[in-house]
Amino acid sequence: MASTTPTLAELSGRSPAMQAVRAFVRRAAEVDASVLLTGETGTGKSLAARLIHQSGERSSGPYVVVNCAGVPESLFESELFGHERGAFTGATAARTGLVEAASGGTLFLDEVGDLPVAQQSKLLTVLEERTVRPIGSVKSRPVELRLVSGTGADLEAALEAGSFRRDLFHRLAVLRCWIPPLRERPEDALHLARRFLRRLGRRYGLDEVRLSPDGASLVESYAWPGNVRELAHALEAAVILGRSRVVTADTLREAAKLR
Ligand SMILES: Nc1ncnc2c1ncn2[C@@H]1O[C@H](COP(=O)(O)OP(=O)(O)OP(=O)(O)O)[C@@H](O)[C@H]1O
Ligand SMILES: [Mg+2]
Repeated sequence: MASTTPTLAELSGRSPAMQAVRAFVRRAAEVDASVLLTGETGTGKSLAARLIHQSGERSSGPYVVVNCAGVPESLFESELFGHERGAFTGATAARTGLVEAASGGTLFLDEVGDLPVAQQSKLLTVLEERTVRPIGSVKSRPVELRLVSGTGADLEAALEAGSFRRDLFHRLAVLRCWIPPLRERPEDALHLARRFLRRLGRRYGLDEVRLSPDGASLVESYAWPGNVRELAHALEAAVILGRSRVVTADTLREAAKLR
């Protein structure tokens, strides 16, 4: 459900929890302090991170996403900090790292809880010194950016276990926001479902698609372990496979293989 330039209204939901998240995003966008977004998968962390960038003063600057869970250890430094030509075998050209690429804008460290300790230290140095030194370079270069991080991991437990550095945590998490799972805000599930159905109806040429009463009850009562992402995809499957302007509980269950 991504659009090119989301606005704050994209983060929809009428629950007090969602209103608080929107208020947080609005306030966080006004300042440069680092932000940590937590919540289960599909709750809207990536969307909120993008909105913080988009609604702030750095919106004309770059928005760079680093998936901390997806960078192989051996490539971490060159990916994040860059390298000079000839810095190592295979470095046939100089490369700007992602941190430097985000300068003047926002760096979103996604799945930051999955960063191994050795890499946490390297990242911390860069954040504290506000400079990067590409591999093979003798000079450090200044970087000036706003930092947003996201994680579905239990960082408190990781801090206790010593698998996440406390100093890095405090550097990343000046402002913190937890986005609750959808099952704790059923009114949002229904509101979002209706919103998604309007969009899906247009996309699949069925102009007006609605939920039957039992479809609506299912949306409200189902646990949605994949949260908003799962809800959106379940409705899409129901619209495509149901080929009807009314989405019933049965269609939804069958099309989306809900348990
Ligand atoms: N409150 C919301 N209103 C509208 N769309 C939403 C909302 N929350 C999430 N979405 C949509 O749901 C999908 C999943 O959200 P997002 O990718 O931001 O989740 P996430 O928390 O980053 O998940 P993951 O931990 O798996 O990366 C996206 O398409 C996003 O646009
Ligand atoms: Mg995400």
